[in-house]
Amino acid sequence: MSAGLIMPGFALLIAPSANKVYASSAIELTVAELRLFSREVQELDIRNVDKTTIGGLPYVVFDCTDIDSRKISFISNLSSAYALFERCEGALLPVELISGEKLDSDLITIQRYAGKTNEQFTRLMLNLALVCSDFRERAFTGGLHVFDPVFGRGTTLNRALTYGHHVGGTELDKRSFDGYQSFIKTWLKDKRFKHRLTAQPVKKNKKLIATRFDVTLARSRDALKAGEQQTINAVNVDTRRSLDFFAKDSHHVIVGDLPYGIRHGAGVRGELSRTPDVLVADCLPVWAKILKTGGTLALSWNTRNFARDKFVVLLRDAGLLVLDDGLDKAFKHRVDHVITRDLIVAKKV
Ligand SMILES: C[S@@+](CC[C@H](N)C(=O)[O-])C[C@H]1O[C@@H](n2cnc3c(N)ncnc32)[C@H](O)[C@@H]1O
Repeated sequence: MSAGLIMPGFALLIAPSANKVYASSAIELTVAELRLFSREVQELDIRNVDKTTIGGLPYVVFDCTDIDSRKISFISNLSSAYALFERCEGALLPVELISGEKLDSDLITIQRYAGKTNEQFTRLMLNLALVCSDFRERAFTGGLHVFDPVFGRGTTLNRALTYGHHVGGTELDKRSFDGYQSFIKTWLKDKRFKHRLTAQPVKKNKKLIATRFDVTLARSRDALKAGEQQTINAVNVDTRRSLDFFAKDSHHVIVGDLPYGIRHGAGVRGELSRTPDVLVADCLPVWAKILKTGGTLALSWNTRNFARDKFVVLLRDAGLLVLDDGLDKAFKHRVDHVITRDLIVAKKV
């Protein structure tokens, strides 16, 4: 490491993205992500976060003293991290990354479907929720409970599983729910994971109110014996009814990419909210109950039909502390001609 009074400088190479539109925003989003990490975890002592180009490639640069494995772990798991270098008199010296990924990344990449949330963006949201929570020391080591109220075909759930967390969620669209269930079933079989999957209808007063599947999984028999199993609890139901299936104070973080108010494919039946503000107003009190104190919620949405200010008011009404200081516009980015996405982070204090 460089000696002297000048803080050692580092450069993080941004991963190439398969999605060209997202690639154009990835550098700005990673700058904002690292700024938020450094604000929330002050002992990281990361300063002067900025973007630059070296040798024609995009890098996030920053200064950091006394870099150690804990700091490297936070940096390594940034949503678009590809390679880390210490900057030394114009040269780039490689620093080995410490990835939190415990499962093969094809868990996240195999599925392709209309309406899938960008994988890097999903990781960004999950990272922000984990790092802004009081449970951040386990963010990249696992064992926390992550909830996605609108899980689609499971991009958030799968990302959280790769970090070693337990996952739960609700999804209204039956085709998405069934698609996720059959994907997980096949993936666990192909990877020869020890697992138990149960799928069943849920009835109340003899009336079918939902369908659910629950999975316990472990990489091997030894892992299972060592208690290193993870769980998936997935329910095909309107997320307004989450408290019928998930206990109060049961989850450390909630992460969701809310419906955009447009249809992908043939659309879905049921009480699908065409505008996310109605869904958010109905659900925030429910989601706030599911969250543990000290836990955080990171939600993204289409700003074309729901203003940030209104979202902030609804979060405050639900008793949550909005971490919006300096975040306004930092994460706003274009998805396509009808979607401009933003995200918001709030904490249960
Ligand atoms: C933007 S998509 C999320 C996609 C997901 N992150 C993925 O990558 O598969 C929003 C999801 O919200 C679901 N949804 C809409 N209204 C809902 C409700 N009331 N309860 C539960 N899910 C709902 C939609 O069916 C859709 O799958």
